This record gives sequence, structure tokens and C-alpha cells, in this order.
Amino acid sequence: MGGSWARAFVVGGSEGIGLAVAQRLAARGTEVAVFGRSADKLRAARESLGATAYTGQLDVTDAAATTAVLDRAVDDLGTPDLVVTTAGFARAEWFHEAPLDNVRAMMETNYLGTVHVCHALVPHLVAAGRGTIVTTSSMAGVTGVFGYAGYSASKFAVVGFSEALRRELRPHGVHVATLCPPNTRTPGFDEENRTKPAEVLAAEEKVRTLEPEQVADHLLKVLPSQPRLVIPSLDGRLGHAVVRHLPRLAERMLRRGG
Ligand SMILES: NC(=O)c1ccc[n+]([C@@H]2O[C@H](COP(=O)([O-])OP(=O)(O)OC[C@H]3O[C@@H](n4cnc5c(N)ncnc54)[C@H](OP(=O)(O)O)[C@@H]3O)[C@@H](O)[C@H]2O)c1
Repeated sequence: MGGSWARAFVVGGSEGIGLAVAQRLAARGTEVAVFGRSADKLRAARESLGATAYTGQLDVTDAAATTAVLDRAVDDLGTPDLVVTTAGFARAEWFHEAPLDNVRAMMETNYLGTVHVCHALVPHLVAAGRGTIVTTSSMAGVTGVFGYAGYSASKFAVVGFSEALRRELRPHGVHVATLCPPNTRTPGFDEENRTKPAEVLAAEEKVRTLEPEQVADHLLKVLPSQPRLVIPSLDGRLGHAVVRHLPRLAERMLRRGG
């Protein structure tokens, strides 16, 4: 099923969607390195991936540390032919009540964190003249969703950045795809649900929640065809088609109280 990669770096690979991607890759024989902030999560991830899995501790909001840790991993292992960056989080809240720090934190982790990882690794992929980068946005990164003003903005930024980078890197043999998961049962999603306004929670009940393994399997299946956006659920693909081609219907479907 799908393509094969010799070596993959998964940033945000110690839990949730990133871990599922790393596990699926390891199971098909890819040499996997996972990165995240918590040493405990990295240790647990390594146990599930096998003793040979490489781990590196970094916080993607810290550009210098991200570059240092990823450069060291390239020195230790070699240049990856697949880079997946999933580090990110969502906070659903009403914008008029949200502290600006929350909006800023999502921009720093979700958008700038993605930029930092790419800034560290793109020179290696360009030098190798090949590779695939997967950035992670969201369905809320292709259409604005109420309760997610700060989050949607950070994930739209990922889509714009990745699209420009994809066009820029094409002559270098490097492809950039953006994963747009729907709601997916992960530790991050559980955390998000703890403070989510009841109205947002109720609106989301209409949409199916995926398992992280379903997201990982879909990603790895479609990636060899060099997609621009990867939308793992049928609901999501239909929703995205409505947003693109039937904007008035999308407006009705997505409006608050609608
Ligand atoms: N789950 C969903 O419903 C859903 C839907 C749409 C989009 N997404 C997006 O998909 C991505 C993964 O989500 P998830 O639900 O799998 O999250 P998760 O369960 O919270 O896992 C996040 C992973 O990223 C790491 N991470 C978080 N912040 C980091 C930072 N600043 N620096 C380095 N590593 C960091 C975490 O480890 P540490 O905490 O130890 O750093 C963990 O390994 C996110 O970008 C999220 O916005 C998720």
C-alpha cells in the first residue's frame, strides 16, 4: 500500500496523529525519528516504535533549538526523504473572550513552528535534490470555523506557506503536501474538548471523529501521488468541495446557529 520511504523525521511524533504516522512508517520498514518537547512522551513513543527509533527533544517555537536538534539528527542518521510536521494544538474559544496570548501561542506553535522545522530541514532536502514534506493544517485551515478564529488563522497560514513552498521547491525535486485532518481522537483533541464552548461541541457532533491510524493510513496511501492537500475523511472532502464551489451553501452550513 502506498509508497516507501527509507528515513522519516516526524516532528510532533511522540503522540496523536504524528505518533500514528511514525508507527505506520516503522511497521513498513522506514527508519523513523520522532521529535517533541516531553522526554516522557518521547520515551513512550520509542517503546512503541522499537528500540532503534531515534528521538530528539525540541520545542518548535524555539527556532535555534529546532535547527540544532534537527541538524544533529541529520548528522546522526542522514537526510530524511520524508518530513512530517504535526506539532500543534487547538484552543476553541470565543474570540471576544480569548486572551490575546492564546491567539499568539497558536500562531507561534502551529504556523511559526512549521516554518522553523522547514527552515531547518529544507536546505538538507534541497542539497539531496529530493524529498517530501508534510505540513499539518486542519479542516479549519481551509475554511473559518466559529469558535476557532485564532486557530483557523494559524492553520490558514500553514496552507499559504506550504503552497508557496511547494511551488518554490518543485525544481529541487522536493514536494510539499498539507495534511488537513478532521476531528481525530488524540490526547490533543481530548485536551481541546476540556474547554470547548458547548455550542462548538454540539456543532461538531454532526461530523465523524477519526482515529489517528485512519488519518495516518490515508496520508501514506495518497502521498505518492503528490497531493497538495490531504483530507483524510469523505465528510471532509465533500465539505471542502462545498466550500470551494458552493460558497453560499457553505455559508449556511457553517454559520453559527445554522
Ligand atoms: N486531533 C484533531 O482533531 C486535529 C484536527 C485537525 C488538525 N489537527 C492538527 O494535527 C496536529 C496533531 O494533532 P494531535 O491531535 O495529534 O495532537 P497531540 O495529540 O497533542 O500530539 C501533538 C504532538 O506534537 C508534539 N508537540 C506539541 N507542541 C509541540 C511543540 N511546541 N514543539 C514540539 N513538539 C510539540 C506533542 O509532544 P509534546 O507535547 O511532548 O511536545 C505531540 O507529540 C496538530 O497540528 C493539530 O492542530 C488535529
